[in-house]
Amino acid sequence: MTLTVRQYAPSDLEACRDLWRELTQRHRDIYDDQIIGGDNPHLAFDDHLEKPDRADTWVAEQDGQVVAFVSLLADGDEGEIDPIVVRSDLRSQGIGTRLLRLTIDEARRRGVRSLSIRPVARNVEAIALYHEIGFRTLGHIDMFMVLDADSDRDWKPGIELHGRDYRY
Ligand SMILES: CC(C)(COP(=O)(O)OP(=O)(O)OC[C@H]1O[C@@H](n2cnc3c(N)ncnc32)[C@H](O)[C@@H]1OP(=O)(O)O)[C@@H](O)C(=O)NCCC(=O)NCCS
Repeated sequence: MTLTVRQYAPSDLEACRDLWRELTQRHRDIYDDQIIGGDNPHLAFDDHLEKPDRADTWVAEQDGQVVAFVSLLADGDEGEIDPIVVRSDLRSQGIGTRLLRLTIDEARRRGVRSLSIRPVARNVEAIALYHEIGFRTLGHIDMFMVLDADSDRDWKPGIELHGRDYRY
């Protein structure tokens, strides 16, 4: 099966909305919280299209179907990859790696000097992939405290940074 990568076109709208649904599902699954993303998570893709810093979006197509997409956000010489999603039944086949490499090359071509990607701390496999591909410098750390006493999310222990423990 051949995989082709090309720029996003308006006719990809529905396919990308479906992929955004799958991106949300990944977050729902890892946090065991089926409410994340609300009733219409796919519509977040429409908001994404309108982001002023969205520099470009590419889709991967296999057998005439859009199976993945990635966007590059850029602001001056700073860039961010957000989001990236591959159809769930086609993961772990190298599609994500190919899209990441393309986006990194494109960011470099555009003069981006610092490129970030911001997975949630619990997305262990995605973090492994990003580390593997070269994201090995940490910038800001997103620290927060849960103020809702009724929150029953099951946070996991096990991350240590600068000698202190965090849950994720
Ligand atoms: C993260 C993602 C884009 C990676 O795309 P991919 O096509 O699966 O990535 P690749 O096949 O190039 O690389 C896979 C490797 O990355 C890691 N990996 C990434 N996601 C993984 C997952 N969900 N399960 C297992 N391994 C995963 C593993 O190390 C894997 O290596 P392996 O296949 O030898 O085990 C894809 O898994 C995905 O769409 N996930 C859901 C959405 C998401 O979490 N997006 C990232 C938000 S920051």
